[in-house]
Amino acid sequence: MIAIENLRETKLPLNNGAGAIPALGFGTLIPDPVATKNATKAALEAGYRAFDTAERYKTEKEVGEAIKEVLQAGAIKRDEVFVATKLWNTNHRPERVKPAFEASLKKLQLDYVDLYLPHTPFAFQPGDTHDPRDAAGNVIYDKGVTLLDTWGALEELVREGKCKAIGLSDVNVEKVKEIYAAATIKPAVVHVESHPYLPEWELLEYCQKNGIVMQAFAPLGHSSEPKLIADPIITAIASRVGKTPAQVLLAWAIQRGTALLTTSKNPSRLKENFDVSPLPEDAIREISEGIKSRIRFNAVVETGVPGFIPRGK
Ligand SMILES: NC(=O)c1ccc[n+]([C@@H]2O[C@H](COP(=O)([O-])OP(=O)(O)OC[C@H]3O[C@@H](n4cnc5c(N)ncnc54)[C@H](OP(=O)(O)O)[C@@H]3O)[C@@H](O)[C@H]2O)c1
Repeated sequence: MIAIENLRETKLPLNNGAGAIPALGFGTLIPDPVATKNATKAALEAGYRAFDTAERYKTEKEVGEAIKEVLQAGAIKRDEVFVATKLWNTNHRPERVKPAFEASLKKLQLDYVDLYLPHTPFAFQPGDTHDPRDAAGNVIYDKGVTLLDTWGALEELVREGKCKAIGLSDVNVEKVKEIYAAATIKPAVVHVESHPYLPEWELLEYCQKNGIVMQAFAPLGHSSEPKLIADPIITAIASRVGKTPAQVLLAWAIQRGTALLTTSKNPSRLKENFDVSPLPEDAIREISEGIKSRIRFNAVVETGVPGFIPRGK
C-alpha cells in the first residue's frame, strides 16, 4: 500500500521513459455518442486527466472531439492529458497494426497517443467486421498470428514516436510473463478488470515487481449484480469515513497501488468519483482481507468477446 496525500493527482511512472499515468482515469465505454462526448468534456472539466477509449467502443471520434474542444479553449495543454486507445482483435496481423493505429489517431484528431493496447490477447479473423462469426454463431479466431507477432508491430509504433507506451489488456499473469520475457519494449501497463471481488493480487505483485502499472477497469463493479457499491463492508466504511461507497472503492484501488478507470454519464456522479480522499489504513485492510466474495463480471479475458458490449453493437 502506498501512502498518498492527494489521490486525484497521483501519477504512476511508466517504464521505457514514457512519462507517468494519472491513477484516477475516465473510461469511455458509453453506448451513446452524444453522451460520450458530453461525459468526456465534463470529465476534463472536473479534473480527470487520463482517458481510455478503443476502436471497438466506437467512441474515439467523440472522445477526440471533446478533447479538441477543451484544448482549444486553452485551459489545458495536450501534454497534460493522457490518452489511451486499443487495437481490436481483428487487426492483430502485424501488417494491419499500423493502419488500425493510424485510423484511431485520425478519429482522435491527435498526433500521438500516450498508450496503445491490444484490446485482448485473442486474434479474430481479419476483416472489416468487429465480430466475425461462423454459421453456428461461434467467433472465428485467427490461428495465423500470435500476440508476440502483434507485439513486435506495436514496438515499431513506439520507435516511430506516435505512441509513447504500449501495454496489455484482458490478460492473465501467465500471458503477461510470456510477453514480458520476449519483448524488446516491455509492457508499461496491464489493463484488467479489478475490484475487491476480483483483486488480482498475484498479477498486481508481478506488475509491481517488474515496473508495470496495473490499471483496473470496472473498479465499481460496472453496476453489475451483486452490486459492489452495496457490499456491507464498503457501505459501513463509507458511513464511517463520511464518503460514498464509490469513493471508498476508488480510494482503495489507488492506495493499493493500481491506476483505475471509472465511467459515468452522469455529471454529478462523475464529480463524486473525482472527489476521492485517502482511507485510513484499517479500512484498506478491511476491504483487502474482509471481502471474500470472488466475482468476475466480464468474461472477455476468457474469450476475447467483450462482456460489456451487447452483441451486434
Ligand atoms: N479492456 C476491456 O475489456 C474493458 C472492459 C470494460 C471496461 N473497460 C474500460 O474501463 C472503463 C471503466 O469500466 P466500467 O464502466 O465498468 O467502470 P465502473 O466505474 O466500475 O462502472 C461504471 C458504472 O457505474 C455507474 N457509476 C459510476 N459512478 C457511480 C457512482 N458514483 N455511484 C453509483 N454508480 C456509479 C455508472 O452509471 P452512470 O453512468 O449512470 O453513472 C456505470 O453504470 C470503461 O469505460 C472502459 O474504458 C475496458
